[in-house]
Amino acid sequence: RLFPGAAQDLAGLKVIVSAGPTREYLDPVRFISNPSSGKMGFAVAEEARDRGAQVTLVTGPVNLPDLQGVRVVRIETALELRDAVLEAAQDAAVVVMTAAVADYRAAERSGEKQAKVAGDVTVHLTPNPDILAELGQHKGDRVLVGFAMETHAGVERAALKAQRKNADFILLNYPTREGTAFGGDDNEVTLVRPDGSHEAWPRLSKREVARRLLDEAAQHLAAGTR
Ligand code: CTP
Ligand code: CA
Repeated sequence: RLFPGAAQDLAGLKVIVSAGPTREYLDPVRFISNPSSGKMGFAVAEEARDRGAQVTLVTGPVNLPDLQGVRVVRIETALELRDAVLEAAQDAAVVVMTAAVADYRAAERSGEKQAKVAGDVTVHLTPNPDILAELGQHKGDRVLVGFAMETHAGVERAALKAQRKNADFILLNYPTREGTAFGGDDNEVTLVRPDGSHEAWPRLSKREVARRLLDEAAQHLAAGTR
């Protein structure tokens, strides 16, 4: 036991966490991405590890070091994230998708750097697979947790997302709250279940959000057949 002080309520269970942004390359030197820091996912991975879980953290490019006692898999694209998460999730008890997966990638990724041309250019984007929804299609007795950032009608949209993806719950946040979400050390989230029931949590450290998230996941595990 690496962390004998913590409650070991996840002992022996596999927990998969995705974190950070993805990069969708247009050519070898240009990509579409987003400012996800990865901090929320790393906090979930640390908390799960300290509670005894066997943790795999699949992360896009972030400025965070590997975590002791966690298997860290570094990927770049949504397709790589998908392969790594689906592989790791096979015998997992809990999957937490904090990754800010790019919704689209270039329909054709050029092998050579594209020189500029005179005038406008059009980029053809094609949708990436929805990893959480794929996990939900073969849910088994895994607990599936998503994150969603919304600018309006958050609870309603998050509940619909949880339904559509067959997730047990989604943590909803808003990009406008200062010091939270992208890059900050705190987060202010609302837990939203597929039936629309929800709980607004106060502004908390990402580690405390991780603790409450795993408390909720552990309740779902206890209610299931595991
Ligand atoms: N997600 C995923 N694969 C994708 C997109 C999203 O697994 N291709 C996961 C995210 O990691 C997150 C949850 O789904 O846990 C919700 O992400 P969000 O972007 O809010 O959902 P979308 O279905 O992409 O909806 P939107 O059109 O609002 O972007
Ligand atoms: Ca999206």
